[in-house]
Amino acid sequence: MLLDSIKTVAVLGAGTMGNGIAHVFARAGFNVVLRDVDQRYLDRALDSIGKNLDREVKKGKLAEADKPVVLARLKPVTDMAAIAAADFAVEAVPEKLEIKRAVLSEADKILRPEVILASNTSSISMTALAAMTSRPDRFVGMHFMNPVPVMALVEVIRALQTSDAAFNLTTELTKKLGKTPVAVNDAPGFVSNRVLMPLINEAAYCVMEGVATPEAVDAVMKLGMNHPMGPLELADFIGLDVCVDILHVLQEGLGDPKYRACPLLKKYVAASWLGRKSGRGFYNYSSQGQ
Ligand SMILES: NC(=O)c1ccc[n+]([C@@H]2O[C@H](COP(=O)([O-])OP(=O)(O)OC[C@H]3O[C@@H](n4cnc5c(N)ncnc54)[C@H](O)[C@@H]3O)[C@@H](O)[C@H]2O)c1
Repeated sequence: MLLDSIKTVAVLGAGTMGNGIAHVFARAGFNVVLRDVDQRYLDRALDSIGKNLDREVKKGKLAEADKPVVLARLKPVTDMAAIAAADFAVEAVPEKLEIKRAVLSEADKILRPEVILASNTSSISMTALAAMTSRPDRFVGMHFMNPVPVMALVEVIRALQTSDAAFNLTTELTKKLGKTPVAVNDAPGFVSNRVLMPLINEAAYCVMEGVATPEAVDAVMKLGMNHPMGPLELADFIGLDVCVDILHVLQEGLGDPKYRACPLLKKYVAASWLGRKSGRGFYNYSSQGQ
């Protein structure tokens, strides 16, 4: 498959990441078949995309007249059969192996044989996902960052089976989205979470051991290391439950106890202090209406 022959992209899952991925493909001129299991998720996704496009118009990144053009490229569907029109597909369904397995094997049967199937998983082995399809050499990781329309990076992840052709085409496609592809081989946590999660974990240990308050830990990293967000602010944004799950994947996958989740992180998760989404994590968001 040639880059220029990719006109229509299927995005499976219209949640946090799926709506962002659909946004950037439509914005770059691709037709997008956006698939979710229920119309209400699709409605919510289109609402988010509309608001995010408005934000781009306000910032002068998109002409007002182009907003309806971008929106018209999106085709929300609940019927999986509609993805047959796709020349490339990205999966962004929940991070549960059984859901991924079901969606990937169904998509694999519908997509044309030459079509590349990409996964946005943050922690499941690309090599294992590739092996669940009949196109392991045309399976690749496309790890977008949240929020997708804003973040420049896409880790392009090579499963053991990924062909050079599929890897190179995905890299070029990423550039067409205005994103910067970075080549990474399949390994637990890839590079992003392999490096980020131990940082967050160590920051949590500093709080647990009374070395410093969350505010102080974040201030050190922002003012001293030029990080735009402190690690604990970022952990609250990602979700403390998601952080614990990813640390578990690193510990299991790499077999090294240095990745064990900090007991304070686990305690917060047990208390349902999950970060921004629950109103409380290392910080309290309830007064901000979060
Ligand atoms: N949220 C993040 O910051 C982030 C960052 C990078 C990667 N990821 C990865 O992206 C993927 C999606 O995460 P998310 O945060 O967008 O999850 P989410 O829960 O916000 O969205 C998942 C969507 O998939 C839908 N879905 C469920 N079953 C489906 C099916 N059979 N077919 C189609 N859609 C289905 C759900 O209804 C939901 O709308 C995960 O693999 C996650 O690890 C997430």
